[in-house]
Amino acid sequence: MKIAIIGTGYVGLVTGVSLSEIGHQVTCIDIDDGKVERLKKGISPIHEPGLSELMSKNIEEQRLSFTTNHQDGIREADVVYIAVGTPENEDGSADLYYVEEAAKEIAKYISKDMIVVTKSTIPVGTNDKILQILQKHRIYDVKVEVVSNPEFLREGSAIHDSFYGDRIVIGAESEEAATVIEEINRPFGVPIFKTDIKSAEMIKYASNAFLATKISFINEISNICELLDANIENVAKGMGLDKRIGEQFLKAGIGYGGSCFPKDTKALIQIAGNVKYDFELLKGVVNVNQKQQRILIDKLNSYFFSLKGKRIAVLGLAFKPDTDDMREAASIKVTEELIKQGAEVIAYDPVAVKNAKGVLDPRVQFASSIEEALGGSDAAMILTEWKEIKTMDPQLFHCMDQPLVFDGRNCFDPESMKNNQVEYHSIGRPAVA
Ligand code: UGA
Repeated sequence: MKIAIIGTGYVGLVTGVSLSEIGHQVTCIDIDDGKVERLKKGISPIHEPGLSELMSKNIEEQRLSFTTNHQDGIREADVVYIAVGTPENEDGSADLYYVEEAAKEIAKYISKDMIVVTKSTIPVGTNDKILQILQKHRIYDVKVEVVSNPEFLREGSAIHDSFYGDRIVIGAESEEAATVIEEINRPFGVPIFKTDIKSAEMIKYASNAFLATKISFINEISNICELLDANIENVAKGMGLDKRIGEQFLKAGIGYGGSCFPKDTKALIQIAGNVKYDFELLKGVVNVNQKQQRILIDKLNSYFFSLKGKRIAVLGLAFKPDTDDMREAASIKVTEELIKQGAEVIAYDPVAVKNAKGVLDPRVQFASSIEEALGGSDAAMILTEWKEIKTMDPQLFHCMDQPLVFDGRNCFDPESMKNNQVEYHSIGRPAVA
């Protein structure tokens, strides 16, 4: 199959690379000249384990190419994927500008019967609108169909998830179109679920909203555990043994971040609101998350009389490990509040520093190692559970003025911190000194 993909962000690029790896001829289209030039050389714009290697391999084997020219990419294709961003509007709804522009571009150049696949996360009913745009703006009298094929990849393990995902969802009007997309995806060997378009669109939002709900739920339980001297790690483990609950996404911490959960939960509240449904539960999930992102600041504030002049080491900035993505990372709010309260902030992250410099307060300083961040600090805060941080020797905390750690990701066993004479405050577990 000849496939064109519009948009080379995280979704478009990973989709393009994975589809080329299973044998399709893929052209990725993006309007950014500089980015396309780098992509052609096999340089990935994002830190994603395994992505660069697969990109280079498929470019070399001539299954994967990049262009800024919509016409070239689309004319040749049997199927065109829309994988552009749907950022958040001020009211929380999804901004569909890029999706609509992509549909207009496709319409201009379609010269044979065509299936347009939407990968972008778009509100229920948007595929219908895309079809209308395609039909209105097409030049030739050809048949166009739209298929919803939402993505469920996690940043940091996107390549793994492409080949070992739990399901591929295909929402289509006609059985023929569904079968074409099913055949394209069959080599992944992942179970395929075919349904109608609107249900497919909803599956994406409902899945992310449910996972976000699990996280906010366990975070609230962790806050109650702290007040009652229970241990959230034991509670989550005991709950997760029940297959109906499942052990995943029960990791308490400083809330969820990233480009998906915060945006998609708010968008689903809007989608429901548009049909006059008040999604109260999800509103609670969003509020709990906003409070949870402040939880370490609250702990610090009850420990120190004032943060003025205190040197605070921040370990981990990315919204999760194995990515350089800073979107909606808890570190943004945490460092902003530390600076506001007069603290000196010295941060360390193994890969996200370049992106962090673009979004954090310019007064945040950056260290090139954990030791450098800790040296002479009054307290350390752990915001991302990077392997390097989880496996560090707790004795390193002794290069601080006093070994005092506030861990937002429960990276360490409190007992071992106690044995290493480190004062340790974590999430949903009794503090040790
Ligand atoms: C999420 C979903 O997991 C993917 O299935 C989906 O495709 C993707 O959004 C998307 O819509 O594109 P992602 O945001 O990359 O993927 O990362 P997750 O692993 O889901 O983590 C999201 C946030 O939740 C992170 O900040 C993470 O630290 C937090 N989290 C996750 C917890 O606090 N506790 C957990 O138990 C799990």
